[in-house]
Amino acid sequence: VLYNLVDNAAKFSPKGSPITISTTDNNKQVIISVTDCGIGIPENEQLKIFDRFYHVKPIDGKREKSTGLGLAICKRIVEQHKGKIWVESCLGKGSTFFFSLPTCTG
Ligand SMILES: Nc1ncnc2c1ncn2[C@@H]1O[C@H](COP(=O)(O)OP(=O)(O)OP(=O)(O)O)[C@@H](O)[C@H]1O
Ligand SMILES: [Mg+2]
Repeated sequence: VLYNLVDNAAKFSPKGSPITISTTDNNKQVIISVTDCGIGIPENEQLKIFDRFYHVKPIDGKREKSTGLGLAICKRIVEQHKGKIWVESCLGKGSTFFFSLPTCTG
């Protein structure tokens, strides 16, 4: 999951721009986040990107060679562990992807 998020962060950001990984936790869950300063994601597509094969249409007409499966797989994995995955993003400024995983069972 983390690999795909970091791979995306690098892929959709200018070369050399920073990527930050953080974690927070309480006694119920851990939240891991990956922040980039890249191209961002339009608000109306922020839910769709978790669908299989979905790509945001590139502004410059160029398309990354990719399957568009990464986030759909991440969502499946996280949800099967009773966690959640979501994004906060500002077009042209960057994105933060979060996923949570429960730390206690029962
Ligand atoms: N950090 C990001 N910044 C901007 N757009 C993103 C970011 N992460 C994902 N996206 C958008 O969401 C789409 C889906 O991401 P996803 O990881 O599912 O597919 P992919 O990276 O294109 O292909 P794959 O992961 O299968 O190699 C991407 O094609 C891109 O349009
Ligand atoms: Mg990906």
